[in-house]
Amino acid sequence: MNQINTGHRGPLRGEITPPADKSISHRAVMFASLGDGESTIRNFLYAEDPLKTLGAFRKMGIEIDDSDKNRIIVKGRGLHGLSAPADIIDCGNSGTTMRLMCGVLAGQSFSSVLTGDAFLLKRPMARIIKPLSEMGANILSEKGGFPPLTIKGGALRPVTYNSLIASAQVKSAILLAGLYCKGRTTVTEPGKSRDHTERMLKACGANITVNDLEVSIEGTEGLKPFDITIPGDLSSAAFFIVAALIVPGSEVMLKNVGINPTRKGIIEILQRMGGEISLSNEHEVSGEPVADIHARHSELSATDITGDLVLKAIDEFPVVCVASAIARGITRITGAAELRVKESDRISSMSTELKKMGVHVEEFKDGLAIKGSGHMKPATVQSHGDHRVAMAMAIAGLTIKGKTTVENTECVNTSFPGFTDLLDTLY
Ligand code: S3P
Repeated sequence: MNQINTGHRGPLRGEITPPADKSISHRAVMFASLGDGESTIRNFLYAEDPLKTLGAFRKMGIEIDDSDKNRIIVKGRGLHGLSAPADIIDCGNSGTTMRLMCGVLAGQSFSSVLTGDAFLLKRPMARIIKPLSEMGANILSEKGGFPPLTIKGGALRPVTYNSLIASAQVKSAILLAGLYCKGRTTVTEPGKSRDHTERMLKACGANITVNDLEVSIEGTEGLKPFDITIPGDLSSAAFFIVAALIVPGSEVMLKNVGINPTRKGIIEILQRMGGEISLSNEHEVSGEPVADIHARHSELSATDITGDLVLKAIDEFPVVCVASAIARGITRITGAAELRVKESDRISSMSTELKKMGVHVEEFKDGLAIKGSGHMKPATVQSHGDHRVAMAMAIAGLTIKGKTTVENTECVNTSFPGFTDLLDTLY
């Protein structure tokens, strides 16, 4: 898929099930591979990013039978059962693969090299190199804190690490390394990042305690295998929720979507903007809260977004920017400097591309202000190699009379193959 053509279309109506959660898919393969025995993963996300994690563990000798895509069997070989990979591990575009793997690889008895695509090579790794080095890891970056990374595995010691960034990838890398230590490893963060690692490690029998922003884990001899069903990804559902809110006459039901409180910011933001969104059928699946989400067209108004709300919606800002471009008034997003180091610099990407559609945008170091108008013009826009920018711009196009083209959209396959096909089912 090289480009997506969108344009003004009729109302979106119907019921869809968004693809499986990306963050949970990565973790399911990792923890299953490290478990003592056979785990089953149902509803794994078949997208490039989690497939990089799956490929990495296969390279380290883990047998993974995915002949039935709905039910993957992972033959875990225990915390110390991985074998040295024969060659470099390519993490593709996936920051989660690279950062979490560093925590695992630091505790092995072999060396490994992690690399990635041109975009991943520009993403900062000092944030995990620093804490893992304090734990005794030997991680070499010839590019001053950027990939590729050479990890010489060895003995690790527990630490108490006060992270200056609220990041689930940093927290998870430390907790995974903590499994290989004798004693208790503690990590604190300035805000509550997504907690899928904590939930899943607890289910695997790890001795993990959570006290608000502080998480501790005891080193262990082993993890229990499990049978997990992965819920739908709220980050993927977000594109359809916003589409339903901004295209007049729309009404969409999204089934089986993860609504983990650390990820739910997008719902809070859109409701605050006046979006008619309701949840039903709330229940728990494999330790994660899940619901059906109903969204219908609404007149949106601007809002200010900062603090914890930024963290709880960290991956949704491309599509929040689109909602803001339609809403009445000026939406200000601040305290969001992390957006500059995502798959692209999302502050700059969204500002550049929305301006091509005639939207007034002001960029700050740590965010942006967007003046909603509802009078956007058709344009040819770029993805910046960023899946969520590509999909957000495609959704923006739905409200514009005339043809909008989003170029370089292959990146959509990192998280959401079949995005346009699913969108087309709603007409
Ligand atoms: C993720 C954590 C977040 C998020 C990313 C996935 C994860 O990154 O943006 O898409 O699965 O742990 P940070 O930890 O850098 O905030």
